[in-house]
Amino acid sequence: MTVAAILTAAGSGTRLGHPLPKALVPLRGERLLLHAARGLLAARTTAGERVEVLVVTTPADRVDEVAALLAGVLGEADVRVEVVLGGATRQASVAAAIAVLPHDVDVVLVHDAARPLAPPSLAARVVEAVRAGHAAVVPGLPVVDTVKRVGPADGSGAERVRETVARTDLRAVQTPQGFERALLVEAHTAGADHGRDERTAVSDDAGLVERLGRPVWVVRGDDRAAKITTARDLALAELLLAEEDA
Ligand code: CTP
Ligand code: MG
Repeated sequence: MTVAAILTAAGSGTRLGHPLPKALVPLRGERLLLHAARGLLAARTTAGERVEVLVVTTPADRVDEVAALLAGVLGEADVRVEVVLGGATRQASVAAAIAVLPHDVDVVLVHDAARPLAPPSLAARVVEAVRAGHAAVVPGLPVVDTVKRVGPADGSGAERVRETVARTDLRAVQTPQGFERALLVEAHTAGADHGRDERTAVSDDAGLVERLGRPVWVVRGDDRAAKITTARDLALAELLLAEEDA
């Protein structure tokens, strides 16, 4: 019984607009992917389980750099680390990481480096739910905004509202997501063709499990697992960390 974590860090961060790939951008002096890795490795379930294998996906030309970075910081930690070249889409990057999972791994967390402040308790909660028999688990939070479905825009760019979506049964889904290894492999194998192109790839791994028609379960998410997409998100995360340190 071994828990592995796949940390997706191969994106370019186009919307962040930083010269570095997003996962390598510093947040209070430490790169996003290191924040995220630390959070995963600090997780402990009530049964005392922890992440023993960490697989990180990186952009082209960054494999050696990221491996050195992780070795420098996690050298002392009792964890097996693999660094692999990511793919053209997030889905393809996760598939590349799955391909190098050691044989003894039976539960896999998939987490985005873009969610650097996800607390250890969240990863622990997700692993516990998988161990309790839920083969695919995602953290989710209630949606606070009123959400409307829209149709095509008119000439001015305004979009016609089609309907207001009932909010009570909506959840905004985060990472880390957790899976029984066999199910994650099956889902990625079945969906591999879609994964090559950004227009058809899924944005989260649970989406591939849903395509198989298999159940996916939501456990309580955490505000701190918010995703960093824009420069404003990064600035907010800086403020949150500064507040915690104060
Ligand atoms: N990711 C990845 N491989 C890709 C694309 C994305 O591993 N080909 C990772 C990113 O590094 C990130 C996570 O998937 O940790 C979520 O993706 P997103 O927030 O969209 O990050 P980027 O793709 O880097 O950002 P953008 O879409 O703005 O370019
Ligand atoms: Mg992206």
